[in-house]
Amino acid sequence: MSTLFSPISLGQLTLKNRIAIAPMCQYSARDGEATSWHLMHLGHLALSGAGLMFIEATAVEPEGRITPADLGLWSDATEQALGNVLRAVRENSPMPIAIQLAHAGRKASTRAPWEGGAQIPSHAPGGWVTVAPSALPFTPGDEAPMALDKAGLERVRNAFVAAAKRSERLGLDGIELHGAHGYLLHQFLSPLSNRRDDEYGGSLANRLRFPLEVFDAVRAAFPAAKPVGMRVSATDWVEGGWDIEQTAAFAHELEKRDCAFLHVSSGGLSPKQHIPVGPNYQVPFAARLKQEAGMPTITVGLITEPEQAEAIVATGQADMVALARGILYDPRWPWHAAAKLGAQVDAPPQYWRSQPRQFKELFRGAHLGPR
Ligand SMILES: Cc1cc2nc3c(=O)[nH]c(=O)nc-3n(C[C@H](O)[C@H](O)[C@H](O)COP(=O)(O)O)c2cc1C
Repeated sequence: MSTLFSPISLGQLTLKNRIAIAPMCQYSARDGEATSWHLMHLGHLALSGAGLMFIEATAVEPEGRITPADLGLWSDATEQALGNVLRAVRENSPMPIAIQLAHAGRKASTRAPWEGGAQIPSHAPGGWVTVAPSALPFTPGDEAPMALDKAGLERVRNAFVAAAKRSERLGLDGIELHGAHGYLLHQFLSPLSNRRDDEYGGSLANRLRFPLEVFDAVRAAFPAAKPVGMRVSATDWVEGGWDIEQTAAFAHELEKRDCAFLHVSSGGLSPKQHIPVGPNYQVPFAARLKQEAGMPTITVGLITEPEQAEAIVATGQADMVALARGILYDPRWPWHAAAKLGAQVDAPPQYWRSQPRQFKELFRGAHLGPR
C-alpha cells in the first residue's frame, strides 16, 4: 500500500493523495488578469492526478507583483479573469485548487526571469516604488523600498483580506499565504530585512507580528471549513538571518491559530545565501517543523522520483510532497508514480484508453471498453 497515494486532510479538505503541485509564477498575466496561458497551464496540470494544485503567487495589490506580468486578485476585473479560467478547469477536472496569496515587498518591480530578472527602476516604464518593512534594498545598487508606515500596513493587510474574499467567491478550496522566498511577509520575519524600531521589528515576537496579523485576518475572512496555510522559508541560509529555530517559533504561533498546513521551503531573502542544493535538501526542515508544531506539513525541493516521494511520506518526515519543476517536465508525474508504486490515480475518461496493458487498475474507476 502506497502512503503517497493515501488520502490526507488539510483541515476539512480531504485530498485523494499526497502530491501537491507547487505554486509557480507564469509571468503571463495582463494587468494582473489571467490569460489564455493560465487556462493552458492550469488546465493541463489539473489532468495530472495530483491531490492538490496551488495557483501561482497571486498579488493582493498591484505594487505586490514581482513583475508587471504577475497574476493578481485585487479588482473585479482580475477576479473575473481568474474566474473564467477556473470555470473551464473545473468543468474538466475534480482536482482541488488552492491559491497562493502574495505580496513581493522589496522584491517587486522586476523583469521576468527570462528577461534577466533585474529590478525595473520606479521611473522606468512598467516600474513602481516598492514597499518593505525597512528601506533596505534586496541587492545593493537597487532602488531602496519605502518603509511601510501604520497606514501602509493596514492597507496591505486589508488587501490580503479582500483577496481572500475574492478567493472564496471564486470557489477556491484553500489559501496559502506566501511567507517564503524573501517576499513581504518573510521580509518582516527576517532580522536581515526588518530593522524597524516599532512593535513590528526587533524582537522575534515583534517580527512575527505582521505575518501573524495577516494570517489572522485572512483566516477570519475565509470560510472556516476551508484550509488556510502558510508557506515558509525555514532559513535564510545566511549567518545571523532567519533560521529553523525562529521558524519553529512561528510554526507554534500558527498552529495555535488554526493554520491548516505548513509548506516548507527555504531561502530567497538575501543574495548572500549559500544553499547546499540536492535531492531532499529541504526535507529535514519539514521533519523538524512537523515534529514541533504537528500541523500537516508539505515538503518541497528537488523531489523527482516516485520512490523518493514515497519514502518521505512513509517515514513521516512530511505529510505531503510538492513538485514544481518535476511536474512541469512531466505533467503526468502522478500517473507514472502511481504505476510505479502500484496505486490508483484519477485520469479523465477521455484518456482512460491510454492505460498501459500491464496495469489493470491504474486509473480509478476506469472502464476501458474494447481495445
Ligand atoms: C517556474 C517556477 C515558478 C515558481 N513560482 C513560485 C511561486 O509563485 N511561489 C512560490 O512560493 N514558489 C515558486 N517557485 C518555487 C517552487 O514552488 C518550488 O518551491 C521550487 O521550485 C523547488 O521545487 P522543485 O525542486 O520541485 O522545483 C517557482 C518555481 C518555478 C520553477
